[in-house]
Amino acid sequence: MAMREVKLCLLGDSGVGKSSIVQRFVCDSYQDSIPPTIGASFMSKTISVGEKSFKFQIWDTAGQEKYRGLAPMYYRGAAAAVIVYDITSQISFVKVRDWIRELQQHGPENIVIAIAGNKFDMADLREVETRTAMDYAQDIGAVFTETSAKTAENIKDLFLKISERLPAESVLPYNSTDTVQLRRQRTQPKKRSCCLY
Ligand code: GTP
Repeated sequence: MAMREVKLCLLGDSGVGKSSIVQRFVCDSYQDSIPPTIGASFMSKTISVGEKSFKFQIWDTAGQEKYRGLAPMYYRGAAAAVIVYDITSQISFVKVRDWIRELQQHGPENIVIAIAGNKFDMADLREVETRTAMDYAQDIGAVFTETSAKTAENIKDLFLKISERLPAESVLPYNSTDTVQLRRQRTQPKKRSCCLY
């Protein structure tokens, strides 16, 4: 089976659930309270889609403003970016547009962008209408889904949708030179594994 390696980064405001989405996807677990990410953290997860297999190299960036300047290091060379907002926070959705603008100006040309409205389990406190976010995503050609890291709803689906959108040339073969570049990052990100939680 062909193994493809996909560099992916998560972007979005602090507290929207980026780390929780990664933890759910990679370890199928969830915690009510996890500390804010410092700088960025890295995890990988392989999924199979039909005859193909995708090894996601996931860079989970810190949403706190003081780390914002680090983001280019993680979206540079990325095949996909997931921009996360919290459906109960209009402010977090406003920030999605800032990230889109930044990716359009400075991100890789063929990057697949996905927008994830997280905390879907808290729909009774919703501030961002599904239609509004979906229309926006459609306008810019982004994948869209509403997720819940807490209940696992649409988490795997998000990554499946991304893998379907990847152009053949942006999925690099396993053991590609990109892996070497990742290891040469100047700021050493925290390597996280599920058992640390
Ligand atoms: P930074 O690391 O600061 O950028 O935050 P983050 O975007 O990684 O958020 P994180 O995953 O740390 O989650 C923040 C809080 O939201 C935690 O208390 C999580 O338990 C909670 N949370 C995350 N996802 C969900 C979800 O789907 N539903 C609910 N109800 N809470 C969630």
